[in-house]
Amino acid sequence: MTGWSHHHVIDLSSFSLEDYREVLSLAHRFKSLPSSGTRKLPALQGRLVTTLFFEASTRTRSSFELAARSLSADVVNFTASGSSLRKGESVLDTALTYVAMGADVLVVRHSSTNVAAQLASELEKSGETTAILNGGDGLHSHPSQGLLDLYTLANYFNPLNPEPEALLGKKIAIIGDILHSRVARSNLWALTACGADVLLCGPPSLLPKEFENFVDAPPPGQELDPIKKRGRIHIERKLSEVLPYADAVMTLRLQKERMKENLLSTLDRYHNDYGITHQSLKLCQKSVPVLHPGPVNRGVEMSGELLADRSICLVEEQVKNGIPIRMALLYLIAAVEAKKANI
Ligand code: CP
Repeated sequence: MTGWSHHHVIDLSSFSLEDYREVLSLAHRFKSLPSSGTRKLPALQGRLVTTLFFEASTRTRSSFELAARSLSADVVNFTASGSSLRKGESVLDTALTYVAMGADVLVVRHSSTNVAAQLASELEKSGETTAILNGGDGLHSHPSQGLLDLYTLANYFNPLNPEPEALLGKKIAIIGDILHSRVARSNLWALTACGADVLLCGPPSLLPKEFENFVDAPPPGQELDPIKKRGRIHIERKLSEVLPYADAVMTLRLQKERMKENLLSTLDRYHNDYGITHQSLKLCQKSVPVLHPGPVNRGVEMSGELLADRSICLVEEQVKNGIPIRMALLYLIAAVEAKKANI
């Protein structure tokens, strides 16, 4: 039986190595199973998953929906446009409305940090058992993306056994707009937990020096880091200082919508300094895989030619892996919890 202990999944800071192992192992099993049509898995039959997205999404919302349906859950999708938010209804009252309709899981995305955590806390105060899965909150956290990136890398390094140990001792370069990226933050927790060193690279305006200490202290309210020995985080400013050492490269979208001021002189200059292309990858000592969480600004953080090069670009693989990873999360949260409660 699983040792899973998370009722909500808000971020990855409290994940143990066993939690990562459980998610990756379940996702790997789900990935190898047919999960559509009449061959759906019955695990979440009679359960209701609601996607509550107050901010735009293509990948996360659709793959949570596909994941939930593959496990035979009922699914309701909320989108902010056209909802009663326009009449002044609050985020909390919107969430409570779906709880009243019977949601077992709310997958929540919001542009403000901590909205998922606040909803989880409010539901617990009201005695509600609905679980919150964070689909991305402001700059803070995007746990399902961190997990699918981890799985994609583990699967690349060890396709037969994509466990957390596949990352041990690897050097993963994360390039670009770290400051505004919840994906980078979730990857920092996940990759260092599995023993990878992370080489962060970007200009000071998008990568403040403090990121070097990112995983040194558990967040408020969490007393201990469950990981005994994490990988290290290094900061460099030039691609030539990270790419020669990298076992994999992850580049991030420039999050222009989250920039309070014009932090970049020109996009051309950024592409020249930090764009990942076949040319810049010549700095690597070997052939390395390239990841990007999407959506991609083609020709800015990554060239269109590289995005299309399936021999090294894992972006399509990341999208595909999003479904089994989200199935694993939904299964652990809704099916395992239901079994524990004898529902
Ligand atoms: N990577 C990611 O979160 O993509 P979406 O914004 O399309 O969900």
